[in-house]
Amino acid sequence: MRSFPLGVGIYADTRRREDPTVDYGKDKGGGMDADRELLIRFTAQLQQAGCVFAAEEAGLILRGGATVNDAESMLRRRLTGEPLEYVLGWAAFMGRRVRVMPGVFIPRPRTEFLAVAALESARGRTAPVILDLCCGAGELSSVFAADLPDAELYAADLAPEAVAAARMNLGTRVPVYQSDLFTALPRHLHGRIDIIVANAPYVPTEQLPFLPREARLHEPAAALDGGRQGLEVLRRIAAQAPAWLGKDGQLLVECSAGQAPDLAADVSAAGFQPLIRTDPDTATAVVSGTLAQRIV
Ligand SMILES: C[S@@+](CC[C@H](N)C(=O)[O-])C[C@H]1O[C@@H](n2cnc3c(N)ncnc32)[C@H](O)[C@@H]1O
Repeated sequence: MRSFPLGVGIYADTRRREDPTVDYGKDKGGGMDADRELLIRFTAQLQQAGCVFAAEEAGLILRGGATVNDAESMLRRRLTGEPLEYVLGWAAFMGRRVRVMPGVFIPRPRTEFLAVAALESARGRTAPVILDLCCGAGELSSVFAADLPDAELYAADLAPEAVAAARMNLGTRVPVYQSDLFTALPRHLHGRIDIIVANAPYVPTEQLPFLPREARLHEPAAALDGGRQGLEVLRRIAAQAPAWLGKDGQLLVECSAGQAPDLAADVSAAGFQPLIRTDPDTATAVVSGTLAQRIV
């Protein structure tokens, strides 16, 4: 459980998703001694199952179950190897909770690097129009909604499960489209988006068998599989993005540090001035491209 084969850098986030609102070992109604016993037992069972963050997860599960019975059934799901976030029904992203459920990609802490880069780009603009492509559960858009009150926000994903989750997380603030990249987006966005941000699938197909078990067995393959070199979806995005961006429009996409030079070359070929930023903590890169020239 949450043991990552050496060398599989992509999607192997080892930082636990901490919830700032968690009060570990909160009273479950059985008195402090009984709660402590539950915490100790849950921790031991999770440890036995190979869980690296056993005590922390035990606290989260105990806190997440409305009753002891609920918490016991959540523990059983976790012991079978189901990702903690599906069991809890949420993932933490930039200090906020995002609702997630089976069928939806679980937001990774590494993507906070992309969120921060997009916020930096947005802060220099008045009422920016931002598109969150391949939005998954919509956590990037929820950060933009909270931090950029004057932004005009849009999100899109191909998977109906992701679209449903994003709508749940974003409410009426952000319209979410079910769309194969740009195909189902409203025409009025054509040529007027300021920032396109995308954390699209980027695992090379041949590396899928080496992903951590939780991702491989529980997350949708279409959320992970980036095709040859892992760059097929990102290349399509780079090629199509210029037509949707306005003057000084910017594209920001996530990939692994190793993929970044190849992707930057594709971004350049699509007419952008590319820039690579790498997060040394996660070996994740953000490749951004500013339109060198408006392409009509
Ligand atoms: C790696 S997940 C990232 C989700 C979210 N952006 C995040 O950072 O947590 C990639 C997402 O891209 C979506 N996706 C894959 N192919 C797509 C396509 N052709 N058009 C739109 N979305 C796509 C998947 O359904 C999945 O939700």
